[in-house]
Amino acid sequence: MLHDHTTFVDYELPRLTPLAPNLVGASFFLMKLLPARFMLDQAERSGKLKPGGRICETTSGTFGLALAMLSAVRGYHLTLVSDNALDSTLQYRLCDLGAHLEIVERPGATGGFQQARLDRVNDYLAQYPDAFCPRQYENPDNPRAYASVAELITERLGNIDTLIGTVGSGGSMSGLARMLRLSNPDLKVIGIDTPASVVFGQKDGPRALRGLGNSLMPKNVDHCQFDEVHWVTAAEAYQATRELHRTHALFQGGTSGAAFMVARWWAAHKPEQKSVVIFPDEGNRYTSTIYNDTYLQAMEGWSDRLLEAPLTVTDPSCHIYRWSRHNWNRRSLGGEPHV
Ligand SMILES: Cc1ncc(COP(=O)(O)O)c(C=O)c1O
Repeated sequence: MLHDHTTFVDYELPRLTPLAPNLVGASFFLMKLLPARFMLDQAERSGKLKPGGRICETTSGTFGLALAMLSAVRGYHLTLVSDNALDSTLQYRLCDLGAHLEIVERPGATGGFQQARLDRVNDYLAQYPDAFCPRQYENPDNPRAYASVAELITERLGNIDTLIGTVGSGGSMSGLARMLRLSNPDLKVIGIDTPASVVFGQKDGPRALRGLGNSLMPKNVDHCQFDEVHWVTAAEAYQATRELHRTHALFQGGTSGAAFMVARWWAAHKPEQKSVVIFPDEGNRYTSTIYNDTYLQAMEGWSDRLLEAPLTVTDPSCHIYRWSRHNWNRRSLGGEPHV
């Protein structure tokens, strides 16, 4: 019998699907439900969020949807600031869930749209001084929320050798890596980013692949957790998303495709290693883009063939135009050991 009508218990944890003898996919319906619920629980407990209060946050999609779902069932007012990359289907959904949504039209002079969105959130916070801002990019409750996923992986699969997943706020991969390494310090962690995202040292620029990557450096990225970094383009990620659907019948979003492409390559080259790959959201939001052949064929860089292997780059700030990898070696962004 389920009693708590203010959480989405069965939606928070991933389903585990074997993809190869040594590779398991952990697919979420909407991964961000977990950190969003955890952050709201903590804010309610500490008194930062009062019954019937207001939440303000910047979002490029899934975190906003998770907050809107939770705000609808918990009775909070929600103000979200996003940009034009937010597709109209999701915009309608957020509004239907009762969120007030503002779309920022122009990037900031520095920090791109991310900075412009943060500036607007700060305006709202000045207007509503009692509002709670989850700040998913820096709130330590974001990575902490993933303890239950680490437990599920360990319970079901025992110690694994490699964890592979995308990095946006850094919450999921940094949190999972820290927790899994408590019992397994030798765990290898592979993070996936996209060209022109600053997260692992690229120069900021326009990015077609959303959800992963960032134009500002999120505090929740714990660089010292990452052994290896891959950069995947939008066209490659979308092609791989379709491949994941065709070959494993998993209907996921574009960042899942990016993770799948890297994980498949890794698992084929490391047959002795047991790997888990994280798939952050399901595919319904992308039916008119990733799952639409006409849309794909018009994309810049589109190719019908999926690359078999990445290029290895020694300088993470170099120009990256196709799937590439770099030996990050658990160093901090500046190259120093993590403290
Ligand atoms: C679809 C999707 N994939 C991947 C990520 C990256 O997850 P994280 O923010 O935990 O690094 C996000 C983050 O918003 C996302 O929305």
